[in-house]
Amino acid sequence: METSDRITYRRSTADDAEAVFALVGASVRTLSPDPYPREVVATWMAGRASDDYLEDCRNQQIWIAELGSVPIGFAHGVPGELKRLFVDADHAGRGVGAALLERALRDTTPDGHGIVKIEATLNAAPFYEKWGFKEVGRSVFPGRDEGLPQIDVIVMSNDR
Ligand SMILES: CC(C)(COP(=O)(O)OP(=O)(O)OC[C@H]1O[C@@H](n2cnc3c(N)ncnc32)[C@H](O)[C@@H]1OP(=O)(O)O)[C@@H](O)C(=O)NCCC(=O)NCCS
Repeated sequence: METSDRITYRRSTADDAEAVFALVGASVRTLSPDPYPREVVATWMAGRASDDYLEDCRNQQIWIAELGSVPIGFAHGVPGELKRLFVDADHAGRGVGAALLERALRDTTPDGHGIVKIEATLNAAPFYEKWGFKEVGRSVFPGRDEGLPQIDVIVMSNDR
């Protein structure tokens, strides 16, 4: 039986898609006004829905951090790339991001080694540097509708 003040980590199920979507939305709101302008944050989730996360959740590709039974963060790694990592701002700075990252990084390198890419938000690059990732370029999140402000990201890699 879990106690309510203990953080646990588990693989996702289809039932997590709504919570994952909500965590992204809540987390993104903390990224304004620094380092992203208000208009970027205000439109960050435009066109997105919880269904966007359903397949990955159903396939158990996402790691969920829970406080009791409440999701407080998640991470998603696929071979060669860390796709997503978000921690609820109320629970940031307690090691949840690090614990999620370590789990998702195992999914990025199923053989135990290899190059991993991350398209990091501007605020998170120093966090990834702690794990040996280095900036290899600048880009913007793909797939944004025309007319929406672009979301700048730092492309990082552990390629040495
Ligand atoms: C970036 C983020 C995932 C970090 O999660 P967290 O739970 O607060 O991080 P942790 O508490 O596990 O921190 C682990 C270490 O990284 C450091 N760290 C955390 N965030 C950092 C940051 N933005 N820059 C530099 N270092 C950071 C901590 O100080 C800690 O260092 P220590 O081990 O020397 O004590 C979280 O702040 C977040 O979700 N931010 C908003 C969404 C986002 O930007 N996600 C990344 C998308 S690519």
